[in-house]
Order: sequence, then C-alpha cells, then structure tokens
Amino acid sequence: MIELKGVTRRFGEAVAVDNIDLTIETGEVCVLVGSSGCGKSTTLRMINRLLPRTSGQILVDGEDINKADPEALRLNMGYAIQSTGLFPHWTVARNIGVVPTLLKWPAQKRDERVTELLALLGLDPETDARKYPHQLSGGQAQRVGVARALAGDPNILLMDEPFGALDAITRESLQQEMLRIQRQLNKTTVFVTHDIDEALKLASRIAVMDQGRIIQHDTPEAILRRPASAFVENLIGKGDRGLKLLALRTVSGLMERHPEPRHPEPVTDSLNESDSLRIALSLMLWNNTEKLPVLDASGAEVGIVNREQLLKVGA
Ligand SMILES: Nc1ncnc2c1ncn2[C@@H]1O[C@H](COP(=O)(O)OP(=O)(O)OP(=O)(O)O)[C@@H](O)[C@H]1O
Ligand SMILES: [Mg+2]
Repeated sequence: MIELKGVTRRFGEAVAVDNIDLTIETGEVCVLVGSSGCGKSTTLRMINRLLPRTSGQILVDGEDINKADPEALRLNMGYAIQSTGLFPHWTVARNIGVVPTLLKWPAQKRDERVTELLALLGLDPETDARKYPHQLSGGQAQRVGVARALAGDPNILLMDEPFGALDAITRESLQQEMLRIQRQLNKTTVFVTHDIDEALKLASRIAVMDQGRIIQHDTPEAILRRPASAFVENLIGKGDRGLKLLALRTVSGLMERHPEPRHPEPVTDSLNESDSLRIALSLMLWNNTEKLPVLDASGAEVGIVNREQLLKVGA
C-alpha cells in the first residue's frame, strides 16, 4: 500500500503538488489524470524519490520512504516513462536486464526473464534483443521501457505516460496487455496519463488532478456518474459519458445465459462474453437488431444480449 499524506512539492515559489492525500491499495491500479502541468509526473517522481518532497509524508507498506535506502526502494519500483530513458549504448536485452543484474540474479535466470518479457510485449526475443535503442521505432522503444520496468519483478509499478508515443492500435493492444499482466501479477500500479479513455480503461481508481491538487479520487464508474466539479465533467466529456459507461462493462454481466450451449442461428454478427456493452450497442445499431447472440470460443451460442436491457444500464 502506498500512502501520500499532505504531500507538497514546490519549485522555488511555484507549487507543483499542493498538499495531496492519496491512498493506493495493494494490487490496485491508480491512474493520475489531468491536464499538462497539473503535477502528475512530480507526484510519481516523489514516490520513488527521484524528487524530494517539500513537505508531507509518503509511506509504502506503512514505512516512510525517506527511511529506506533510495537504491533499494527503486529496485522494488518499476518505472517506465514516455521518453523510455533507455541506455543508448546497451542492447535491448541488456537494457531490460538492468534491474535483475543489479539484484544479482544468476545470468541464466536473468536471460530467461528478458526473453519472457520480450515475448510478452510482442517483441522478437531473437532479433530485437540484439538491437540498440536507436534501431527501434518509438513504439518498440516504449515496449522495451515497459519490459525493463517489469523485469525485476517489482511490487510496485510507476508508469508515466508509457504508451504516449504509440499509434492507436498498438496503444490499444498494450493496454489490453497491461490489463492481462495486471490480472496475472497484481502489481500495485500508479499510472499517469492525460488520456481519460486510457484512465477509464485501466484504473481501479482514478485521481483527477488540477493545479497540483486532487479534485476527485474514485472508481471510473463513480467518476462518470458523479463528477465532482465542472472541471471533471469537462474532462470526461459530458456528451458521450453514457457510451463511456457502457465501455466499462462487459457482455458477460448482462447477457441472459442459456441453460445449455446451442448451435447459433446464422446471423450477421455475434458477441463474445468479454466484449464491452459499448461494442454490443454499436453492433445492434449496425445490424438494426434488438438482440445479439453471445458465442463462446468454440462457436457455440451461450446466451443473448438484448437491447432493452442494455439501454437501462445507464439509469
Ligand atoms: N524541475 C523543475 N523545475 C521547475 N519547475 C518544475 C520542474 N518540474 C516540474 N516543474 C513544474 O511543476 C508543475 C508540474 O509539473 P509536472 O511535470 O508534474 O506536470 P505533469 O502533470 O506531469 O504535466 P505533463 O502532462 O505535461 O507531463 C509544472 O508547472 C512544471 O512546470
Ligand atoms: Mg508529466
């Protein structure tokens, strides 16, 4: 668990982070979101002590981080940033292996870990491993940055716009990957973005920041349903928050499940249980239909989603 209590950071006269209180539970993904300059990166960098705080307290598992050895603290906190911060004269493999090396893992264990992470992030363990950072595309370099953050198996992940330089499709697939990794590894994560859709998708709870303060800290659903101020309402986009709400839920929660799987009727479109309700609505509109079948991986029909029920979700 990470706790920030009355944390402030000044740069000269300017207040970058203004007396914030924030508790991040073990295993949760806390997303800091807000406009440029609101203090997101500064907050993150105080958690791993890259920046000292001006006042207040930061505790990890009840222990003040100022009492810990900064090196040891950072080895337990994976850190990924938009500009990747890769060492230019080191290969991809050596960059990813840096924390395991510092942790004095045996070479074989380290190499296996590097290979595993390259594969996990969709990089080629053979060819990409031997490249230097300047031989990578921006998106590949960002993945290497994320792999490096995960390499030492830290309990805490700090991620500062790690997907910022990626195209929409790669970004989407890394977000999916991140959700999968999160379900598997359950790391306590603080993730910074200025993209509210990314925040809604990844967060257990979102902390909305403005001018160094936290103005709302809540679940994605609560932020959409009960924005604390006009600023938050603006950030989430009042016009399509109904659709954003549908995007948070999956078909599995709403479908009427058949007692037994059936052979599907031949229809134009169908859903998977993991599709969002937003996709379900979109496909219903597209097919001009009031219900859609839900198929399992084998192609058997396991249930039905119906439009009338879908439209009640927002209420
Ligand atoms: N080293 C520094 N010296 C002086 N001022 C700084 C320094 N680092 C940050 N600031 C100021 O602190 C404020 C918060 O900066 P921070 O980098 O935390 O914002 P951010 O929310 O991460 O923004 P962005 O979305 O653009 O990355 C800004 O006004 C910035 O100019
Ligand atoms: Mg920043």
